[in-house]
Amino acid sequence: MENELYSLETEAKECLQNLSDETQAEEFRIRFLGRKGQFSTIMRSLGGVSAEDRPRLGQLANSVKAEIEQLFEKKKATIQNTTSLSESSAGPDLTLPGRCPAGGRLHPVTLIMQETCAIFESLGFSVAEGPDVEQDYYNFEALNIPAHHPARDMHDTFYVSDSILLRTHTSPMQARIMETQEPPLRVIAPGKVYRCDSDITHTPMFHQVEGFLVDKDISFADLKGVLTVFTQKMFKKDLPLRFRPSFFPFTEPSAEVDIACVMCNGAGCRVCKKTGWLEILGSGMIDPEVFKMVGYDPKVYSGFAFGLGIERIAMLKYGIDDIRLFYENDQRFLSQF
Ligand code: FA5
Repeated sequence: MENELYSLETEAKECLQNLSDETQAEEFRIRFLGRKGQFSTIMRSLGGVSAEDRPRLGQLANSVKAEIEQLFEKKKATIQNTTSLSESSAGPDLTLPGRCPAGGRLHPVTLIMQETCAIFESLGFSVAEGPDVEQDYYNFEALNIPAHHPARDMHDTFYVSDSILLRTHTSPMQARIMETQEPPLRVIAPGKVYRCDSDITHTPMFHQVEGFLVDKDISFADLKGVLTVFTQKMFKKDLPLRFRPSFFPFTEPSAEVDIACVMCNGAGCRVCKKTGWLEILGSGMIDPEVFKMVGYDPKVYSGFAFGLGIERIAMLKYGIDDIRLFYENDQRFLSQF
């Protein structure tokens, strides 16, 4: 039996060397290592060996079988590696579907910003941009809001230093443009503004578009006409507008403009705080004090100004009921625009 084991070992090793594919490997396994294979047959015949020789021969049979099993596993791994290498060197599978790169999209706020600018440009307004980090002078003083004026309470301001701040509105652009240009003026100033404010209709950073027009004989009717054309073009229908008397130190008279809440069609919901209206902008006739500060004669010139909240317009246009969704960067939300 000992000789039989050694000759089986030699035969199995020779066979192993000649294995070249997975089918041959499986045949080898069945022939030598399977339940009815040659090693099992020898093991079974151990029963006929004398009790004296049985432990030694049993141990020998086990160790030879274990060695062959180890060699077989190594050989099988080599065959599998070679097979997958030769498959991959056959080149790419041209029948597989192509990989589609995820397409980028414009943010809904950018879309509405661009559309807003395009509407005002079509009405003859030119576009001007100014700094986000602004001087207290342009944000407040030049707009008839001196230090300690109660109107400063309307803006929860992020101060950088005593005289430098993050602009709380785009109105500083009125003073910046008017102090360097002479009327007639028809300008819009889009940009980011910052306030310490956060709930479903307020965010700490949001976008405004300032608009102002200065010429001779400009009246509140011109303001109303321009804003009516804007809302008709933006919402592609005749939405009711509401001018509510208000107060801004840089306009007199002043009005806040509301648009019928498109979320509930004016019935009242959590977005419009049950009023049926949503405020989209502040506006008014430019205060003579502002003209005086930039050197315009208020007896000769008059003008109107407005400041639109872009996120509010985007909420109305796309039916979004929480302003914070714009800034959560959720791809499922952003990919819908
Ligand atoms: C102003 O900011 C004035 N500068 C507007 C103005 C310009 C008046 C020119 C007169 C002449 P108000 O604080 O109301 O006004 O803001 C204007 C619009 O910005 C609001 O109608 C609203 O649509 C939007 N808004 C205000 N605060 C926030 C906020 N925290 N988050 C998002 N939108 C806001």
